Amino acid sequence: MQLRDHEVLEPLGIASWEGPFSPEMAAQATDALETGKLLYAPQLSFELSEAERRFLSPDYLDGKSKNVSFRSSSGVLVGTGCRGAERDELLSMLQRYCTRALQLLKALCPGYGDNLQPGFTSFRPAEIAGRPTSWRHDDTRLHVDAFPSRPMQGRRILRVFTNVNPQAPRIWRVGEAFDQVAAKFVPGIRPPFPGSLRLLQKLRIVKGRRTEYDHFMLGIHDRMKADQGYQSQAVQAQLAFPPGATWACYTDWVSHAALSGQFAFEQTFELPVAAMKDPERSPLRTLERLAGRTLA
Ligand code: SIN
Ligand code: FE
Repeated sequence: MQLRDHEVLEPLGIASWEGPFSPEMAAQATDALETGKLLYAPQLSFELSEAERRFLSPDYLDGKSKNVSFRSSSGVLVGTGCRGAERDELLSMLQRYCTRALQLLKALCPGYGDNLQPGFTSFRPAEIAGRPTSWRHDDTRLHVDAFPSRPMQGRRILRVFTNVNPQAPRIWRVGEAFDQVAAKFVPGIRPPFPGSLRLLQKLRIVKGRRTEYDHFMLGIHDRMKADQGYQSQAVQAQLAFPPGATWACYTDWVSHAALSGQFAFEQTFELPVAAMKDPERSPLRTLERLAGRTLA
């Protein structure tokens, strides 16, 4: 079964990152995000300087990582072998993307205000197609985002992407909404063993406490990716994000897969469920309704 583009995309005819956008546009954008659509701004490009264009090469990766990652709160840059002035330049490019993405969401979702917490900024210079990975790390399979070592404890994951490839589109598949995904996969997930979540934290396997919410999200992530029948049969749409396009979505709600593409930026934001316009539209509340109890 096929989803149509207009069922998953909310087109935005904007060419500026900082707005101001009309209150109507902002309300519509926030609603679209919270109902599981992707905001799609085909003309919102992230400009690279002549000098920065040399970074459009996988050679700036460290050989182990698939992304260069930057954390604006600490200034830490990882995933690259660059040193000295070159490293500073790479860092300032990622910092600039972080600033742009934050400006965009603050202007489009003014209600989120300072609750919008920037997480990792990533630059993705490796081609996705044909990259060898284990099934669990294989993002060419439909999944919702959940991180084994980074418990979200119910907080939302909102991500902004920009394709900076000079020629090629970034190809995604987008599948059914989280409530449908959860109804399908949650019944097969056993609750965590008593004490196991605390043990993970004690052994420092995870940063912070893995809640029952995280346990279910990881279970859904893994079961979706492992289920070949689901991957081919689930309702889905294939989307091509052209060079110079920017898009954003809640990747803990929208099932997505990145099939091919090279050279993109991505900014992750975390948002407490209580800061949403409608907290009921969160994976946390959806799972709690299914479980009949509090999960985080
Ligand atoms: C993902 O979040 O699964 C990957 C998205 C991308 O790199 O385009
Ligand atoms: Fe993902």
